[in-house]
Amino acid sequence: MKVRLLHLTWALCLFSGVAHALFERTAIKKNLPQTEAGGTPAAAAPESTESVAKWQQGGKDNGSQASVAVQEALSILRNMRTPKNRLARLEETSGFVGTSMYYAKEAFFFLFMNGPRTDDYLQTGSSELRLSKPLAEAVHLLEGAAKEREPDALFLLAEMNFFGNYTHPRNYKEAFRRYNDLASLNGNGSAQHMIGFMYATGIGGAVGRDQAKALMYHTFAALGGNTKSQMTAAYRHHSGIGTPRNCNEAAYWYKHVADKAIAFSRSGPPGGQIFQQKHVYRLADEKGGVYGEGASVVSSGLNANKAGPNSDSHANIDDVLEYLDLMSRKGDLKATFSLGTLHYDGTRTTKHNWKTARAYFRIVARKYWARDGSVLTEDHGIGRVASKAAGYLGRMSLRGEGMEQSFEKALVWFKRGLANGDALCQYELGLMYLNGFGVRKDPVTAADYFKEAANQDFTSAQSYLGQLFLDQGDVSTAIRYFDLAARHGHIEAFYHLAEISNNGIGRERSCGVATAYYKLVAEKAETIHSSFPEANEAYNDGDSETALVKYMMAAEQGYESAQANVAYILDEYKSIFSLDSLLPWKKQRSSLLQNTVLALIYWTRSAKQSNIDSMVKMGDYYLRGHGVEADMEKAAACYQTAAETHQSAQARWNLGWIHENGLGVEQDFHLAKRFYDQALETNQEAYLPVKMSLMKLRLRSFWNTITRGKVNSIQPDPKPSKKEFSFNEWLSNFLEDPHPYYHGAEDDDFLEPSPENDYMDDIDESIVESLVILALAGALAFLVYYRQQRQNHHRREMERQQQQSQTQQQQGADQGPEQPAAIPNAPVPGQQADGGFFPAPDDPNFGQWVAGGVGH
Ligand SMILES: *[C@@H]1O[C@H](CO)[C@@H](O)[C@H](O)[C@H]1NC(C)=O
Ligand SMILES: *[C@@H]1O[C@H](CO)[C@@H](O)[C@H](O)[C@H]1NC(C)=O
Ligand SMILES: *[C@@H]1O[C@H](CO)[C@@H](O)[C@H](O)[C@H]1NC(C)=O
Repeated sequence: MKVRLLHLTWALCLFSGVAHALFERTAIKKNLPQTEAGGTPAAAAPESTESVAKWQQGGKDNGSQASVAVQEALSILRNMRTPKNRLARLEETSGFVGTSMYYAKEAFFFLFMNGPRTDDYLQTGSSELRLSKPLAEAVHLLEGAAKEREPDALFLLAEMNFFGNYTHPRNYKEAFRRYNDLASLNGNGSAQHMIGFMYATGIGGAVGRDQAKALMYHTFAALGGNTKSQMTAAYRHHSGIGTPRNCNEAAYWYKHVADKAIAFSRSGPPGGQIFQQKHVYRLADEKGGVYGEGASVVSSGLNANKAGPNSDSHANIDDVLEYLDLMSRKGDLKATFSLGTLHYDGTRTTKHNWKTARAYFRIVARKYWARDGSVLTEDHGIGRVASKAAGYLGRMSLRGEGMEQSFEKALVWFKRGLANGDALCQYELGLMYLNGFGVRKDPVTAADYFKEAANQDFTSAQSYLGQLFLDQGDVSTAIRYFDLAARHGHIEAFYHLAEISNNGIGRERSCGVATAYYKLVAEKAETIHSSFPEANEAYNDGDSETALVKYMMAAEQGYESAQANVAYILDEYKSIFSLDSLLPWKKQRSSLLQNTVLALIYWTRSAKQSNIDSMVKMGDYYLRGHGVEADMEKAAACYQTAAETHQSAQARWNLGWIHENGLGVEQDFHLAKRFYDQALETNQEAYLPVKMSLMKLRLRSFWNTITRGKVNSIQPDPKPSKKEFSFNEWLSNFLEDPHPYYHGAEDDDFLEPSPENDYMDDIDESIVESLVILALAGALAFLVYYRQQRQNHHRREMERQQQQSQTQQQQGADQGPEQPAAIPNAPVPGQQADGGFFPAPDDPNFGQWVAGGVGH
């Protein structure tokens, strides 16, 4: 149901995009009858046939000469020293000191290192650039070889112009030309992929954005076996970019990628490759989401303590290591074991270190077993931890991680751990029996071990068990186990579920389900086809352009986090209060980064893959007309959809705001209040802003009411009385209460969130109180001031009148008594007998006024 609604709103939000794409489609159809017909087109691109012909005539046997030139150029290039990026790797810093360091560095570069700006390189067409001598030489050689239609030369030149390898300045137009030459020369898949990418994004203004052509080139490359293009084509068919949605096509291409992914996964040591997906993360999440900590969905409400490891809600990994080390020295075996796993897996910022991990695991194991395997202590707690360590030690032996592979040693460790019922040991033993590693091959024993581990919710064991059931033909039991394993994102389980759905084994074929699972499998194996690591590195190096391009490539392949990252980098409206925007030396964004249209496209795609924050962001773009004509109704639709997920306080607050101001919806204070209240319900952290908005809203509503405005004012909500709950209802509610909080994996034990949030609420409450008091005090001060002004004014008036009457008296004495002499201090006719707005304190009326006795 929710999905339905999402889609409906999507239709609304995407209308202009779709219309555009359709328009493009009809335009391209003329050029491209054969792909639409579904036939397999020739591998060569249909463009620039004349140039191909020209090349095919000249220099058939000059290939060797040209390739010699390429070799020469390559050796020159490889010997070139590539200077490091100027901001020599600003490590991820946090806190006050880190921030000050950052700005100090920026200031330093601004003041003393004002070299020529490099941004101009990004504008295509500026070919008159001085290259360093060896680079110029190499380029000269390559250009010579390129004239001989040497593919390697063409490819290298294209890459250098596109990625800026070997410090070559970027020139997207030139890169496009070279790729295009290469693609038409021999249908090179890599070149076709790049052309497809350039058409899809219109990057650097090399070519106009053209989704139909993009799909065409990606399809060529995909047919040639290019994994990235297969994934791109799959994603485009999956979400209908530049083509109508086509589930079968999407499943077809995603299956290609998934097959490769699973083949790679199984190619690993016993148990397969491990996919940690360390590189796939959203940049915004590191900072608590696009709206900041607490305001974004990723870091508020239920997600409050699940944000990235570098965000405020989690301790720094170095601190964790330090703490664990301290505990470990004090003899805490659990801490020692955690240190082992941390080093075994590695973290986002640190590579795994098997030797160190092994040392920690050995320490733990030695506390429980003597060398001959006899048990040293009766302590059950120590036994459990030691068994876990034994599992890891055996696993490392089995897989040959940081040591030589040894089935015997592995078996020893697993048998030890088995005595304490350790799931990892059970699973690994099952694996050994299944494949006959150092033991007699015995699937039945293997299944027994898997079953024991599976009962302890050990994911890999569930997946293998499912596979065994599937082999036996028991599809429904198999699916049950796969579903269990899929909860924890097991790649094999995903793959089996995809295959089952795609082939309709034991259940009806479901293309949609199959595609979804294939997509998950494909994206799990990000290491084999995505540019995430390079993108992350470039971003951390402060090289936004490279990071942008690399994230964009992953985004085109359908990675939601890459789409969010691209949009985040392109988003120029991050925060009004960012310090960067106040700095006098604010870095001018390079032209590549100034692309609001592209930002909106990627917010949209990310939102379409259920990123709520992106959805709200998209609403913002429509609201303010960034990259698109402002459209209040679409903005409202986006906010509405985001609000319906019950997760985004920001969306509800925005909804309240547009209802308050009547943008794209009818102005309605009552509804606005409802949304503000809901925002608070969704996210308690929003207490202060919501209360302030509500105060303002109440004032406006009050004014509206007393001026008889047309807007629907706030009406008192009927109070839901608690007594209406019958006892039975209450009881059933109580029994069915779904525990709303999800606790992370047990491994996160040492990253427990801060104890309670109540303390925060107290602070917020007191802040509001103080604010109210301040406001009242301010109002009082103003009134006092006002009164004084009035009094002063009055006194001056009096003095003036006195003077006047005195001069008049003098004049009157001169000219005769024509007028009655004015009595000093007597009220002038028409003037109130009051000493100003309020009576003066020495006025006899003052006492009465203070007592409230004087009616004004
Ligand atoms: C190819 O090499 C031959 C000699 O081997 C030469 O005569 C010819 O001009 C060369 N072609 C080109 C295009 O350089
Ligand atoms: C494309 O051409 C380059 C250079 O000749 C080569 O290294 C690459 O392997 C080719 N790619 C494909 C898919 O053939
Ligand atoms: C050029 O650099 C990019 C990344 O910066 C890399 O992916 C690509 O393989 C490089 N190309 C060549 C020919 O070295």
